[in-house]
Amino acid sequence: MHVKKVRFGLVGMGNIGIHHFSYFPELENAELTAICDIDPAKVHELKLPKDFDYAADQAVLDDSIAQFTDYRAMLDSGRVDAVIIAVPHYFHPDMAVEAFRRGIHVICEKPVAITGRLAREMNAAHADSQVVYAAMFQMRTNPTYIKIKEMLEDGTLGEVRRVSWIITDWFRTQTYYDSGGWRGNWTGEGGGVLMNQCPHNLDLFQWFFGLPKRLYAMVHLGKWHDITVEDDVSVLMELANGATASFITTTGDTPGTNRLEITADNGKLVLEKGRLTFFKTEDSVQRIIEQSEVGFYAVSPEVMDVDVEPKPHGHKWITQNTINAILDKEPLIAPGTEGLESVQLANAILLSGIKGRPVEVPVCEDEFDELLEELRAEERRNAPDKAFDWEAYINSFSR
Ligand SMILES: NC(=O)c1ccc[n+]([C@@H]2O[C@H](COP(=O)([O-])OP(=O)(O)OC[C@H]3O[C@@H](n4cnc5c(N)ncnc54)[C@H](O)[C@@H]3O)[C@@H](O)[C@H]2O)c1
Repeated sequence: MHVKKVRFGLVGMGNIGIHHFSYFPELENAELTAICDIDPAKVHELKLPKDFDYAADQAVLDDSIAQFTDYRAMLDSGRVDAVIIAVPHYFHPDMAVEAFRRGIHVICEKPVAITGRLAREMNAAHADSQVVYAAMFQMRTNPTYIKIKEMLEDGTLGEVRRVSWIITDWFRTQTYYDSGGWRGNWTGEGGGVLMNQCPHNLDLFQWFFGLPKRLYAMVHLGKWHDITVEDDVSVLMELANGATASFITTTGDTPGTNRLEITADNGKLVLEKGRLTFFKTEDSVQRIIEQSEVGFYAVSPEVMDVDVEPKPHGHKWITQNTINAILDKEPLIAPGTEGLESVQLANAILLSGIKGRPVEVPVCEDEFDELLEELRAEERRNAPDKAFDWEAYINSFSR
């Protein structure tokens, strides 16, 4: 039994920060000792939804949770061994690197960064430190996705031949984009559905299949919403083994779909509406193609509902796993360094879609950085009201 508890600081008390705050009492071997938000109201007058079983207002007033409006002051306070970074994307790299330099463990919200270059620089800074670095890819704790990974790795599915993921159940309204000035624009968010909603799916994609070799994307900016970033994306990819994959996403469809179909040499695996079904062929598909003496061979697959043992999952389990990694060297479910790949994938999709040509993955960092700079400049020129003003944002909190 541990006597030591990991002392956590939480930076960013917005939507997801409040959620992280709420599960702390349920964690083992950890305590929340500090919270930080650039907006003083968010730390001093913390308001939690009623259904949280946590005496939040008292807790915040309690001396055991120090309140900061400057994250560096929190990191320097000597009150935290680890930090959860739950602020807008642009701040993730600086905050993580500052924590690494101080020997403070990090859980970074997704996406770890906006660009492959920044994510790679975070990895380099982490390599120079001795701390644990995790990314908040809580979908990796979902037993269904774990099962899919197992079936890919233990040979049940055989060689992957084709992947198709339609992930269009990220519907968002204009009110959502208008709810925070940093959302829905290049200056504040650095991307749309690929940067905000899909990092989880892009991470799972690369976790299952690795980074594709190359891809070709069709990307629409502000197709369904009054925003400057992408809200409709269709991608064709070539995986390392030559298999073809398609990935379709948007925040503009409703009712949306989440259907992942993996066609492999031993059959087809389909995940839809949370149900996993395996259509197991009687023989290797490639062997049937090569050796069958029948021209129009009708496969009679065995259709199996794949049993997935229910298991608690979600953000809390990434945090608990990180605590266990800090105290007991438990392997990380989502190492922060693996945050790089989903960013590289998002960058490649955007570059291909906007330039209208196929790209090798990962794309040239200089070329992507140039594109992002152009998009920001264009936003400032064409839609100045959509270009997020960081200075005004930060000043609005300085009372
Ligand atoms: N893992 C998930 O399921 C999940 C879900 C939602 C959001 N997120 C990620 O979490 C991050 C935050 O998203 P959100 O929806 O909570 O945003 P939000 O706008 O609701 O909250 C962000 C908070 O950060 C604060 N903040 C901004 N700059 C700061 C700074 N420099 N120092 C301290 N505080 C600062 C803001 O005042 C605000 O309270 C994003 O990166 C987002 O992608 C992850």
